[in-house]
Amino acid sequence: MTKILAVASEVFPLVKTGGLADVVGALPSALKHHGIEMRVMLPVYPAVAASLKQAKPIHHYDDLFGGKVRILAGQAHGLDFLAVEAPHLFDRPGNPYLGPDGKDWPDNWMRFAALSRAAADVGSGRIKAFVPDIVHVHDWQAALAAAYLNFAARPAAKVILTVHNIAFQGHFPASIFASLGLPVEAFAIGGVEYYGGVGFLKGGLQYADAITTVSPSYADEITTPEYGMGLDGLLRARRSVLTGIVNGVDTTVWNPASDDHLALPYVARNFIQRRQANKRAIEQRLGLEEHEGPLFCVVSRLTGQKGMDILALCLDDLVGQGARLALLGSGEAQLESDFKAAASQYPGRIGVVTGYDEGLSHLLQGGADAILIPSRFEPCGLTQLYGLRYGCVPVVSRVGGLADTIVDANEAALDRESATGIQFAPVDASSLTRAIERATRLYADRKAWNSIQKAGMKTDVSWEKSAVRYKQLYQKLLQNR
Ligand code: ADP
Ligand code: GLC
Repeated sequence: MTKILAVASEVFPLVKTGGLADVVGALPSALKHHGIEMRVMLPVYPAVAASLKQAKPIHHYDDLFGGKVRILAGQAHGLDFLAVEAPHLFDRPGNPYLGPDGKDWPDNWMRFAALSRAAADVGSGRIKAFVPDIVHVHDWQAALAAAYLNFAARPAAKVILTVHNIAFQGHFPASIFASLGLPVEAFAIGGVEYYGGVGFLKGGLQYADAITTVSPSYADEITTPEYGMGLDGLLRARRSVLTGIVNGVDTTVWNPASDDHLALPYVARNFIQRRQANKRAIEQRLGLEEHEGPLFCVVSRLTGQKGMDILALCLDDLVGQGARLALLGSGEAQLESDFKAAASQYPGRIGVVTGYDEGLSHLLQGGADAILIPSRFEPCGLTQLYGLRYGCVPVVSRVGGLADTIVDANEAALDRESATGIQFAPVDASSLTRAIERATRLYADRKAWNSIQKAGMKTDVSWEKSAVRYKQLYQKLLQNR
């Protein structure tokens, strides 16, 4: 059995701020029946401690970044964990990255260097309880493991780095370098040095044996200056080890036939009537009036990446066409207040819930007619995949994983009954407005609309195909050992 240590800062259902958690939580079971044993390493935040009460220590440090640290092995929610217990770094409630002032914890470099260091120690084979063949690190918070492992004694595990979002890179001042415990030669252009400081993601990209990202289009995009956020040159240089593997959906968590969060679960045979009951439940919950036009929804972080400022500019037109909007989101204060203001301006037509609500996110997919995803960039995106599975038609910008997973309802695709959603480009308010108008017109043509829903619901959004791609990548890496 191939043994993999996955390393990440969040894992569903223990701790989640976005799609990263869903992916890291779903991969182990997707890979299990391919003969891959994956354990997941994450920090012991308070929510994790509550789920891992039975975990047993397998390693300890008297002093790692200023405190006692233990690595615990345990199980929860069907996942095998190695958890890094470092109370001085992780025993803090709330969002895993932000302090009570809403800003990054000032010692985030130390917190995630500690996670990476523990991962590298497991990867180097010194901890006999689990000796992995590969360490699979996710995003900047785990990326430094690649640097630590590069300098570890051989044989050590190979390293794969998956980039879920190149906008988050973990940049810190050069002054932290001395405390990282890396050899001096690591502070170089070919190492972790980045514009005079330390770049965790940059170092990971430099040292990883293989790099993946979460869709083929995003893999191409990040090699360009427009999307590479300063790392495009390095990614062009490493293009031969960079691949895009599209995310799947945990089809047990996201299953309209057995979803407890829905007012009424449904299957392909009865979805049209039953989704109506879910729509009524959304209307009640968000104070919306019944209306014949489409009900659009949004489930999103409220940020520039997600194009939420662009959506805010389209609301007069959306309401003017007889459509409604149910929005669930949290993020930038300005956007939260813009959407709340829109809800007061259009009572009964625009309903807004700010905050994080897993249950409501399912209900919206199960009852709204369409989901709006006008992202400026989108490495993969999961909400359009949930939309496909739930018959909630995705209206998406043509970028990254959105471009790769949605078939636009153009004439040819409608004729073939292969259309699954609506794509638009460029990402601006006038093309989003046109896309909303197209969706509203299509919605009025029930036959066309139902065929788009059905084609979406038939789309294979499971992990099956992508699990095979990861497995092939693991095998390829181990062949060259
Ligand atoms: P990203 O990770 O960039 O935020 P994804 O589409 O990959 O985007 O994943 C977002 C995940 O977070 C999805 O599972 C989505 O349902 C969930 N989500 C986003 N905002 C909220 C919210 N306010 N409440 C509940 N779930 C949310
Ligand atoms: C990131 C990306 C999102 C992707 C998710 C999981 O948060 O923004 O597009 O779906 O990671 O890979």
